Amino acid sequence: MDKFIITGGKKLEGKTQVSGAKNASLALMPATLLSYGKSTLFNTPELNDVFTMIKLLKHLGVESTFSNSVLELNTTNINNYVAPYEHVKKMRASVYVLGPLLTRFGYAKVSLPGGCAWGPRPINLHLEGLKKMGADIELTEGYIVAKAKKLNGAKIIFDVSSVGATGNLLMAAVLAKGTTVISNAALEPEIINLAEFLVKMGAKIEGINTTTLTIEGVDSLQAANAETISDRIEAGTILIAAAITKGKVVIEKIDPKYLNAVILKLEDSGCKVKLYDHAIEVDAQEIMINPTNISTAPFPGFPTDVQAQWTAYMSLANGVSTVTDTVYLDRFMHVSELVRLGADIVVKENSAVIKGVSKLKGAKVMSTDLRASACLVLAGLAAEGNTEVLRVYHLDRGYQRIEEKLMSLGASIERVEGKEY
Ligand code: EPU
Repeated sequence: MDKFIITGGKKLEGKTQVSGAKNASLALMPATLLSYGKSTLFNTPELNDVFTMIKLLKHLGVESTFSNSVLELNTTNINNYVAPYEHVKKMRASVYVLGPLLTRFGYAKVSLPGGCAWGPRPINLHLEGLKKMGADIELTEGYIVAKAKKLNGAKIIFDVSSVGATGNLLMAAVLAKGTTVISNAALEPEIINLAEFLVKMGAKIEGINTTTLTIEGVDSLQAANAETISDRIEAGTILIAAAITKGKVVIEKIDPKYLNAVILKLEDSGCKVKLYDHAIEVDAQEIMINPTNISTAPFPGFPTDVQAQWTAYMSLANGVSTVTDTVYLDRFMHVSELVRLGADIVVKENSAVIKGVSKLKGAKVMSTDLRASACLVLAGLAAEGNTEVLRVYHLDRGYQRIEEKLMSLGASIERVEGKEY
């Protein structure tokens, strides 16, 4: 369990590039289970959640090689349809193997993911959708056991927009018999990346980039190659790092349309933002941070995965702001740690009410989850003195060596290796 020691107060300046999107990779990788042969996934980020998915796929019989962000997955010898607790407990996205295994092999046994640091994260929509497609599903001894000789097409409408349920049911539907219509489907770019990969594999999907997906099942899919899109959450995190340190940064290899909501809010907070085809420049050198409210929502709304980072930023605003999470009502574990750094924040229901302070002061703080740890790193970059961020293994789950990128922009961050942090 490593920790970071951050010496705050340095303005970030310069250029950096983002890596491939974690949440796209975690969908593309299990999608290869639908085909026979070798698929190549380019721009795959080298981070711990990807390594966990590689281990899970290996457990199912998938062979892999991974170097320089090129991940080859060979599904020729799949011989196991069980995703055990030791993999799923580390990463909820493991549940993505359910749809592909069931639709291709007629059987899947996947550990129930359980809750997470910020409360329950149900998978009822995944299970109800598969049942509608004719699966026989039992929950037994902590596992989902799903069986179906052949899934059938069905009409599915989600009560709430869900990235994971859209991905799982889309993967199940591509090999089902007949037509499946998924209404209120997620529009997140990572889902579009997945749908386009499935089409390259031979799937018949209409309505990509809309909330209604119509899938005509086919008998089999071929292995194919995919380019993983860039990580909009990593890009959003670095944009806010530039803003909170009153710096000026260009982020390359990112399509600005993935981050429209964050960019508009950065402008409201006083930053000057310039957009290019595949780059974003944020200039916060002259700003007094305007208090700027946000409310998270499914794409194209403000992402819940950038909520904690925005909360850190607003803790230094020139007035009171409100941060509301409508996707995960309890996702505020970072607030008590920000308060240890001197922030003035009160959580009321699913909102944080933030009274901006003139400065944060370094202290020891503890990461509780991936985005909370990113928020604490940003706060540490802006705080006076030294901030120790403990348990950065949370950060390593979802960011590829972000400290190196931040240091290349002028941040002072030391990674200290150790067991007790
Ligand atoms: N929901 C249900 N029932 C379900 C599924 C979801 O009620 O069966 C609810 C959730 O409780 C939540 C909302 O629907 O209120 C949206 O959840 P969603 O299913 O979209 O989340 P997810 O697929 O489990 C993915 C990302 C998360 C990200 C959310 C929301 C992956 C691997 N994970 O999770 O990413 O926060 O979408 O955008 O794609 C992260 O990267 O830090 C992270 C947590």
